[in-house]
Amino acid sequence: MNLKDCHNFSDFRKLAKKKLPSPIFHYIDGGADDESTLRRNTDSFNDCDLVPNILASVGKPDLSTTLFGRKIDMPIFLSPAAMQRLYHPDGDQASARAAEKFNTFYSMSSMGNNTIEEVSNISSGPKLFQLYVHKDRSISDDLIDRSRRSGFDAMCLTVDTLVAGNREKDHRTGFTTPPKLTLQSLMSFAMRPKWVFNYLTGKKFELSNVKKKTDKGTNIAKSVIEYINEQYDPAMGWKDAEYCAKKWNGPFALKGVMSVEDAKKAIDIGCTAIMISNHGGRQLDGSRSPFDQVKAISDAVGDKLEIILDGGVRRGTHVLKALAAGATACSFGKMFLFSLAAGGQQGVEHLLQNMHDEINRNMVLMGCKNLKELNSSKLIYRK
Ligand code: LAC
Repeated sequence: MNLKDCHNFSDFRKLAKKKLPSPIFHYIDGGADDESTLRRNTDSFNDCDLVPNILASVGKPDLSTTLFGRKIDMPIFLSPAAMQRLYHPDGDQASARAAEKFNTFYSMSSMGNNTIEEVSNISSGPKLFQLYVHKDRSISDDLIDRSRRSGFDAMCLTVDTLVAGNREKDHRTGFTTPPKLTLQSLMSFAMRPKWVFNYLTGKKFELSNVKKKTDKGTNIAKSVIEYINEQYDPAMGWKDAEYCAKKWNGPFALKGVMSVEDAKKAIDIGCTAIMISNHGGRQLDGSRSPFDQVKAISDAVGDKLEIILDGGVRRGTHVLKALAAGATACSFGKMFLFSLAAGGQQGVEHLLQNMHDEINRNMVLMGCKNLKELNSSKLIYRK
């Protein structure tokens, strides 16, 4: 199996599974507790149907939109995701370059393995930085200052990970940052010699953007759950978010908003966007899915905020449904990380091309010339 056999999410997932040691594969693949929210994030798209209009003389639909002050060529982008060097030696540089080719957003995680400066040097494409409020506020301040100096376009503050979700797969596999060989994981690494070779001969693994402030996660191995619980502030509140929005003073999103009430508060603290997200089902299991919340949130605040649906997207039709329900754009994490593991930059480009083609084809089939024409009249809920 290789990249040309990857036509959809499950193909990329299968190929990634063949290439990654199991603790790393399961770190991407897993969700919290019983993974019911993880499943629901995708299943929720099936509770409604698209209603096409015929003979609309579409020709070539316009898939472009504006997000965070930049025109992008299609309404999808790469979610922030930690530790991309574990999935491919080129890590964030591969994702940033692939996103730039398609003129859409690449996002950098606070837990990235490349520095903010490195990525901004190799890509002039649209770039979003993802921030956590650290207990040591000087870390968060430093990340904001450096993102601004490096020309990142926008910032999102993650608000759904004040403590780590219960990812039982990580408990079982013993996954840590940096990865650690244990008796438990020895076999899974031994079965992926190419990955081990690349890891040992490549650039040293580090949490590049925070390593000057803490050794944890770089030289001191920690499970991601320990790392989150030690570094991030569980007492963070609206005042902290407002401080970050003001300090950034540019396009700013809260990532992890799920309620209409919080979406309204986001406007009050100066956000220009929200990412409706439950962190890919990795945090609060039993949480509602992003798609289930898009319509209510968009009806309430869609004229004041850009609305990004983050989570569960596997198909072009999911994007069409999200936009018809009121989203401005969609982002996805797992799907692109599998494509990164499957083939580096080329893998991510292959995925983005597939998604572009699916969205394009489905727009023609829907009879929509541009994304604005995807409105609530195009969607019927079954119940
Ligand atoms: C995770 C964090 C690090 O989901 O984003 O693992």
